[in-house]
Amino acid sequence: MAILLDGKELAKKIRENQKEEVINLKKNGVFPKLAVIMVGKNSASEIYVRNKSKVCNEIGIDFNEYLLEEKTTMKELKKLITTLNEKNDINGILLQSPIPSGLNINEAFECISPTKDVDGFHPENIGKLCLGQDTFVSCTPYGIVKILEEYNIQIKGKHVVILGRSNIVGKPLIQCMLNKDATVTVCHSKTTEIEKHTKMADILIVAIGKPNFVTKDMVRQGCTVIDVGINRNQDGKICGDVDFKEIEKVASYITPVPGGVGPMTIAMLMNNVIKSAKNQNKKNLGA
Ligand code: GUN
Repeated sequence: MAILLDGKELAKKIRENQKEEVINLKKNGVFPKLAVIMVGKNSASEIYVRNKSKVCNEIGIDFNEYLLEEKTTMKELKKLITTLNEKNDINGILLQSPIPSGLNINEAFECISPTKDVDGFHPENIGKLCLGQDTFVSCTPYGIVKILEEYNIQIKGKHVVILGRSNIVGKPLIQCMLNKDATVTVCHSKTTEIEKHTKMADILIVAIGKPNFVTKDMVRQGCTVIDVGINRNQDGKICGDVDFKEIEKVASYITPVPGGVGPMTIAMLMNNVIKSAKNQNKKNLGA
């Protein structure tokens, strides 16, 4: 049976350290603050944002939520982002995706100041990640690296197979894994004979948003399986992109859904907000 990669427990441990860090920042007059923008109604986004708000609250980070109407224009959205860019008390700006289809998400992400881009989605920060420079690393890929490192699962020299090439997870994950000296294969919706690739993986990371897509016959005995998916099955229960019950019998390590990558994503967002607050207050902190 596979060993469970317990993101929930690890995130809890990380939050304890973050609480201490925030207390110290506050002693030095630095009050970390995250601004989250949501445009229109989306029930999944509402849950994600509520979870982010809860964790901010727990570790002492101020949380400002901006709810914009479905019919918001690009001009209005950019105006809000620009205002938040200019506010000295705001350290991080997060535009929850998706946004309504009439709006251009790339243009919106690009409007966020790279110094406040705690999601790591700004082209400048993505570029820095590709060059291996210090930057804000997107929270889900960052959380995946952390969980592997915490469980002493070697990335260097290993064959990492990623399913999914989204801008939010797949693409930054490629760079994170390359930066850790992995050999990387990326599969996507147009890949043929996907199981030929997945069977080669030492570490298989799945981020495609299809319930129970990866089955036992697609993985090698002893591989590590990271499931980024959050879906609902026919019974309305939360499930990942991986058939957990079957794959835990052959994998050596596996993340559960829920309680795997999800809590780690939020923990890494908090790391990025703290990093941003420190960067923006170097004078107060005597650095
Ligand atoms: N939508 C789903 N995941 C994310 C995320 O990590 N950040 C943002 N901004 N939107 C998301």
